[in-house]
Amino acid sequence: MNAAVTARAHTNIALVKYWGKANTDLIIPQTSSLSLTLDQFYTETTVAFDEGLTSDHVSVNHQVLTAQQASKVHNFLNLVRQQSSRTSFARVTSVNHVPTAAGLASSASAFAALAGAASRAAGLSLDRTALSRLARRGSGSATRSIFGGFVEWHAGHDDLSSYAVPLIEKVDWPIAVVALILDSHHKKVSSRQGMQNSVNTSPYYPAWKQIVADDLAAIKPAILAQDFTTVGETLESNAMRMHALTLSAWPPYSYFNGDTLTAMQTVKLLRHEGIECYYTLDAGPNLKIFCKATNVATIQTRLAQQFGADNIIVAQPGPGIQFLD
Ligand code: DP6
Repeated sequence: MNAAVTARAHTNIALVKYWGKANTDLIIPQTSSLSLTLDQFYTETTVAFDEGLTSDHVSVNHQVLTAQQASKVHNFLNLVRQQSSRTSFARVTSVNHVPTAAGLASSASAFAALAGAASRAAGLSLDRTALSRLARRGSGSATRSIFGGFVEWHAGHDDLSSYAVPLIEKVDWPIAVVALILDSHHKKVSSRQGMQNSVNTSPYYPAWKQIVADDLAAIKPAILAQDFTTVGETLESNAMRMHALTLSAWPPYSYFNGDTLTAMQTVKLLRHEGIECYYTLDAGPNLKIFCKATNVATIQTRLAQQFGADNIIVAQPGPGIQFLD
């Protein structure tokens, strides 16, 4: 057996979303996107290639996956085997760390950690750009989780040109993201399926590409200038316009549930009361509320009254990929 390697990667929340692929095999997106890596949610993955194995062996959160469940991981390991001199199968042990049973396991942290651990275990020493490109092949959002802080994924046009770059890795800005868990079940329409459906059927898709270009042009200087209002307004409108692509697809669908709408109303009320904060959502009903660190306690108290204290997780900007001994 070759030496085992363990990597830890954090998940990220997109402020300007990735929602659509130009190339589904290589996971080249239709647009660039921008995210903030979070400290609270991460995946630790250990990989060892082992000549004694007759297939890849994958466990997630101490549960062994069936061959079918492990097929994405197996395909990903094939890429690593192609790039390296390894031919043997691998043992992969992955654990998702989330503060509660929130069901916030994310393909972003999972494939970023797997890219790091598998490439090193296979004897490759990839720089972070190459790691970002490799992680992209597992899941688009994983491209950005190689880096900490504010990160932009340059769409590019092929495997070589599509990777993430850090905008600010060490965030020296007292901001927080309050995650509100409204439903921890598995999503009915995966992001993979949902975004493809939007690309293929939403008449608004061409407008989305322009929206993303405009939002990126607005949010990058605003982040650098710590202009909280512009960052907040941009991320909230970007999220709503992404979700408009699901409502305008055929067949139409939505990731919102009733509580999602109630929670959006609460954020607006808080704003009205002078607590400036903004929400965003990914392919699910849970809100992530972008706020100033000084307002976290007030926001937490308000949300706890409505939705229960157990359903709230406060995150700060988090680091990029780390290798553990
Ligand atoms: C709404 O990265 O999960 O979170 O590339 O098909 O694996 P695949 O999709 P995934 O999609 C993320 C969608 C999003 C927005 C974002 O993270 O930018």
